[in-house]
Amino acid sequence: MKNIDIVVPVISARYDELTPVQQKLVDDARSATARSYAPYSHFNVGAAILLSDGSIVTGANQENAAFPSGTCAERTACYYAGANHPDARFEKIAIAARGTDGEEVEQPIPPCGACRQALLEYEKLAGHDVEVLLAGRDAIYILPSVSSLLPLSFSSF
Ligand code: THU
Repeated sequence: MKNIDIVVPVISARYDELTPVQQKLVDDARSATARSYAPYSHFNVGAAILLSDGSIVTGANQENAAFPSGTCAERTACYYAGANHPDARFEKIAIAARGTDGEEVEQPIPPCGACRQALLEYEKLAGHDVEVLLAGRDAIYILPSVSSLLPLSFSSF
């Protein structure tokens, strides 16, 4: 028997420490929170994905009176990207959120498990790491890949 320690490498950065490309993606994720439809949770999430063709696609959570029918911001964005830019690879993704008070969350919001699994599929398709930026008011977390957010992931059968 042996222990296997899984380490998740996270850089905590300030906005002004980001590259211009990272700043733009965070800006777009923050802007996308305004296009959230969240009349039930009042929790507005935005996601922005930089693609290899240079375009940035955004998504926001879309809720539904039949609760499970709603979709998170990350999956809205990644399925839009897959459907509209099928030949482009994912390069980076940024995620931002505003809480029920309408203000940006103080600490970054990590994506839910289902969104990690969905994003992982597009990282596999890209064939390289897809950087993840989780934006909060007080810190922006930078993770090197989607797979680092989902260790021991299921990816083939
Ligand atoms: N939500 C997201 O959009 N992304 C996440 O990663 C976590 C949660 C949304 C789903 C729902 O509309 C609201 O936030 C509250 O859970």
